[in-house]
Parts: sequence; structure tokens; C-alpha cells
Amino acid sequence: MGQWEQQRRPELLKSFQDNVYGTTLPAPTTTTYDEAGGDNTAGSGSARKVTITVTGPAGQASFTLRLFTPTSGTPKGTFLLIDHRGSVGDTPGSGGYAPASKITGAGYALAALNAEQVAPDDPGSYRNGVINAFYPAGQDLPADAGRTISAWAWGASRAMDYLQTDAAASTGIDPSRVAVIGHSRGGKASLWAGAQDPRFPVVVSNDSGSTGAKLARRDTTGESISAINSGFPHWFPDTYKRYDGNAGALPVDQHELLALIAPGRVVVASAVDDANADPQGEFGSYLAAAPVYALYGLGDTGLPSTTWPPAAGTSFRGPGMSYHLRPGGHGLTDADWDIYLGSDLFQR
Ligand code: GCU
Repeated sequence: MGQWEQQRRPELLKSFQDNVYGTTLPAPTTTTYDEAGGDNTAGSGSARKVTITVTGPAGQASFTLRLFTPTSGTPKGTFLLIDHRGSVGDTPGSGGYAPASKITGAGYALAALNAEQVAPDDPGSYRNGVINAFYPAGQDLPADAGRTISAWAWGASRAMDYLQTDAAASTGIDPSRVAVIGHSRGGKASLWAGAQDPRFPVVVSNDSGSTGAKLARRDTTGESISAINSGFPHWFPDTYKRYDGNAGALPVDQHELLALIAPGRVVVASAVDDANADPQGEFGSYLAAAPVYALYGLGDTGLPSTTWPPAAGTSFRGPGMSYHLRPGGHGLTDADWDIYLGSDLFQR
């Protein structure tokens, strides 16, 4: 474990920066939190809207974090959702992707980060959030600088900074019990956030697929590296584009990203009909991360066998790793949330 923590883990982290996600933005020069939105009661919980403003050497950017907490009792834990759809407003939804009232009803809190404000999901304007606070707008970004996915992961850490403040404590949220969760492109970012920031004891990848939980070397199954780089040129730095059609040359693979989360709990969720995300490649990656969890005595994946496919609709849980394969297609659905809310992710 000493060699893993002192040598191999830092090497892998750097290699993911150098070859896949790009360099991470530094800490802001200053950060302010504006809770002017105040608290209000919404659905089954209370809500607070916080505007986080970060200043860097080249400018300033602001993004919203919305907190929904149960009306009574201390939250059992908090789901920090990297909301890449910018879909969580002041009034919480009750089902599907970001079901605030379902989450608070189950005794948990939801913290929804507006990722569209952190970095717009658009090749023409993705720099207009936090990235241009650090890089002058008129100059090209360095080839190895992180793009949208890296910025979203960084934003999740800034949300965690807020959750650790005294002001946030009045909501009852315990910052030592925060699960960072993302769906699909958001799941790529939640994994990268969890790999870099050990403050997250639980990291959830929901259908993250290519450059998320899926093994990169299964490049010809599901979405390839060249397909993701051409379809979404603003997600990853130019350095990752060297591996278009050449996944075998990558010095890392995605099971190593999952392993970087240890000893935090990694949660991998796939959907049976989500061919683009390559569920079998996500399963392979989950299994291959187990040897690092084993260094912490957490190597039990919860799966009865390593044979693909495992039973669909069943959640499997070890002391540090969780997995499920949901029937149906791509999505963060009520069925996924039922599993997350029902499986005591914060317990070993
Ligand atoms: C596209 C993309 C995926 C991504 C997904 C999503 O399908 O190819 O990589 O995960 O969008 O974010 O829903």
C-alpha cells in the first residue's frame, strides 16, 4: 500500500492529466459565496441557492450550487450532482435525472452543481466559464490544458470547498459524507473529480462510458476515442487526440482511474441497452480495479462471479465497491436512484 500511495498512485494521476483529461486548473486566487438566494422550503425539503464566484489571474466566473435537504433530521449523506444539463432550478423535481424530493424523502441531501455555468458544453463557448478566469481569452489554450470535463471535475471540488464552510454547516450537511455523482458525460467528470479529490468518500459513475468507466482498449466496441474526440472536441485536450485510432498506445486505461478512487467507494452503474457506453467494458474496468481496493482490504466487488453479464436489476455491493446493471437504455433513472438511495453507500 505504501508503494501504491507514494509512487504508483501519483504516477497514474499525472499520466491521466498528461494523456487523457488534461492539466487541472489551479486553486482560485479568491472564492466568494453569495447565499443571497436565501433558504426556502421546497417540496419535502429545504433549499438553498449559493452563487460561487471564483477569481483567477485572467478573470472571474460564477456558478450556482443548489442544496436540497430533508425537512427534519440530519441528512444521511449528500449527493453532489454534476448537473451538466443545468436542469436543477429552484423547484426540485421528483423523478428521473435529479429527483430532489425523492432524495430528501429518503433522508439524503442533494447538492446540484450547474455544470453548464462552470463550463458551457459547447465547442465554441466552453472556455467562457471558469477556464477563462485562468487563461487569457485571446490566446489559444495550451495543448495539454483540461477542457470541459476537467473543468466540471474542478467545479465539483469547488462545491466541496463550500460544503466544508461553517456557513454550509447550518444546512446540516456533513462534508465528510458527500458522494459526487454524474451521468454519462457528467459521470466522466465525477470519476475524474473523485480520482483527484480524496474528500469524496463515494464516487458514482452512472453510464459514463467512453473516457469514463469503460476500458479504453475496447476501442472498437461502443464509442471510440476518435468518435468522442470528433463528436465532442471541447471535452478533452489536444493531447488525448493522439490516441484516436490508437488506444493501445495509451499509458493508462480506465480501470486505473477507478482504482485512484480507493479507498473511497467507487460505484459503477451501467444499463443493458446502452451500447454506446459499452456496459461490458465498464464491467471489465470495475473488476480490474479490485486489486487496488484489495490493498485496503476492500477487494470484494460484491459480484458472485466475474462472468459477463451479471444479473440485471440487482445491486452488488462490497465494502468499498458497488455495481449494478440496470435493464433498459442510457439514463439516470428512478431505478438507478432507488439503488443509490437504498444501499447505504456511506457504510463499509
Ligand atoms: C453522447 C456521447 C457520450 C456521452 C453521452 C451523454 O452519447 O457520445 O460519450 O456520455 O452523450 O452525455 O449522454
